[in-house]
Amino acid sequence: MCGIVGYIGQRDTKEILLKGLEKLEYRGYDSAGIAIMNDEGVHVFKEKGRIADLREVVDGKVASTIGIGHTRWATHGEPSHLNAHPHQSASGRFTLVHNGVIENYVQLTRDYLQDVTLKSDTDTEVVVQVIEQFVESGLEVEEAFRKTLGLLKGSYAIALFDAENKETIYVAKNKSPLLVGLGDTFNVVASDAMAMLQVTNEYVELMDKEMVIVTDKKVVIKNLSGDVMTRASYIAELDAGDIEKGTYPHYMLKEIDEQPLVIRKIVQTYQDENGKLDVPGDVADAVAEADRIYIVACGTSYHAGLVGKQFLETWAGVPTEVYVSSEFSYNMPLLSEKPLFIFLSQSGETADSRSVLVQTNKLGHKALTITNVPGSTLSREADYTLLLHAGPEIAVASTKAYTAQIAVLGILAAIAAGKRDKELSFDLAHELGIVANAMEALCDQKDEMEMIARDYLTVTRNAFFIGRGLDYYVCLEGALKLKEISYIQAEGFAGGELKHGTIALIEDGTPVFALATQEHVNLSIRGNVKEVAARGANPCIISLKGLEEADDQFVLPAAHPALSALASVVPLQLIAYYASLHRGCDVDKPRNLAKSVTVE
Ligand code: G6P
Repeated sequence: MCGIVGYIGQRDTKEILLKGLEKLEYRGYDSAGIAIMNDEGVHVFKEKGRIADLREVVDGKVASTIGIGHTRWATHGEPSHLNAHPHQSASGRFTLVHNGVIENYVQLTRDYLQDVTLKSDTDTEVVVQVIEQFVESGLEVEEAFRKTLGLLKGSYAIALFDAENKETIYVAKNKSPLLVGLGDTFNVVASDAMAMLQVTNEYVELMDKEMVIVTDKKVVIKNLSGDVMTRASYIAELDAGDIEKGTYPHYMLKEIDEQPLVIRKIVQTYQDENGKLDVPGDVADAVAEADRIYIVACGTSYHAGLVGKQFLETWAGVPTEVYVSSEFSYNMPLLSEKPLFIFLSQSGETADSRSVLVQTNKLGHKALTITNVPGSTLSREADYTLLLHAGPEIAVASTKAYTAQIAVLGILAAIAAGKRDKELSFDLAHELGIVANAMEALCDQKDEMEMIARDYLTVTRNAFFIGRGLDYYVCLEGALKLKEISYIQAEGFAGGELKHGTIALIEDGTPVFALATQEHVNLSIRGNVKEVAARGANPCIISLKGLEEADDQFVLPAAHPALSALASVVPLQLIAYYASLHRGCDVDKPRNLAKSVTVE
């Protein structure tokens, strides 16, 4: 979703801003822009489309040591040059970029901007115009900024500069992520540390409803009452190499390949000195003592939550419900007496999940965030955090975060099971090692996946994924992967449910991928495959070694059936990847999607 960068210092800003925006591309966007300022004035360059398109219109001759930049994922107003940020006030004095949604922009327009003609359809422009109105009415810029922030309802991360002051970038945040990065002779602003890792790895977190005065030498954080806040900086534990593709053609392929390594790293990280699985603090006690667990998540993380539910219920014996955040937020179920909330979120910033966390915090319930991003909003605001240790995930379609979430949930459930005197009958760390090997073997079989994608998906307009039990949950994820990046209409279905309606959609040649990794339902899912084949479908059965039959299209290496999701998702990820490639789609940056969805 939208991204912000800003730089003030000694170097020419253009390239720093453009490189920063490129690092934010993974979040998803449909237009981009930068504004820089020098003795001749303010220069704004924006373009619909990609950063590469923006590069084309940036005048290489204009130099400047202060600038702000933005990638926009359209919410108010179509993706266009006009609606792209930065936006400027009527006189051109103030220039601003914004992430988030200003919910009361109509009211603000009515109350403060009757005499101003707005140039764009955005909620953002209203903010910069209101600031100018307050300055024109006699307020100092900082005061006008603070007063405006006090009026805003909704979410924002903002960077602003004033043509009459080339020494300062004004910054503010509420609910949308924003960091300030520190340097010796410069300072920067960024939606995430990755964007500005090129110049610094030292960052300061901002809290909601704070504003910051950033110059090349100083960073002053204030609350909206004007009190100065002190905050220690931290070093972002990111390796610049982690966010490069290296020799891979796409981030998604790199991230699929990284999965075995991530699983091994998780096992290593969550072990005590005796090699016994362990998680820090008393989070496993919180799981063991809860009378019910509510997993709240979106998209791929929601699918990982469904697999996690199986672990928590069958191993630890804690009843677990899994909810889509955006539904839970306004449609809360009756809660148990001692619930524990688990927020699953790769980014730790998803607004829908955060809105639930705000509510559950108000109700005084304990919450655990499982995320890939230390210090992210969901992590900061929950009682406990477990990290995924998956390394940055850049491709919009999530892969290694999904398998990492499953592994961490498995470890947590196993430890909680021990605390409830329900020791597992197998060695989970060992079995995760075996699954990691299986994932590695699968990653080496890309040619076969490419062939399956070519045979089944090159021309089809739809596809089905069917499975039972754990396989069903993986099918939901397989279908999501395929639709996200290849735009083929795909549905994940419980094998037994297809006949109650959806089977009507099966036609001659409709691809149906069936997962068969669960012994207790092996015969039934094969029966479901026969039903669709009898109606003309083109089935592709992916089974687990030991359960295979002669004409299965692909057999997964043996793995513990409870952990089969970690292996069976790999071919589905690869099939989606190759389908996307064959159909000429943008694998890493699919249309309309954002990696980190910071609006509700
Ligand atoms: C977006 C992404 C999905 C992701 C979902 C939840 O929609 O495109 O890939 O699964 O957000 O994100 P989270 O960061 O909370 O896991």
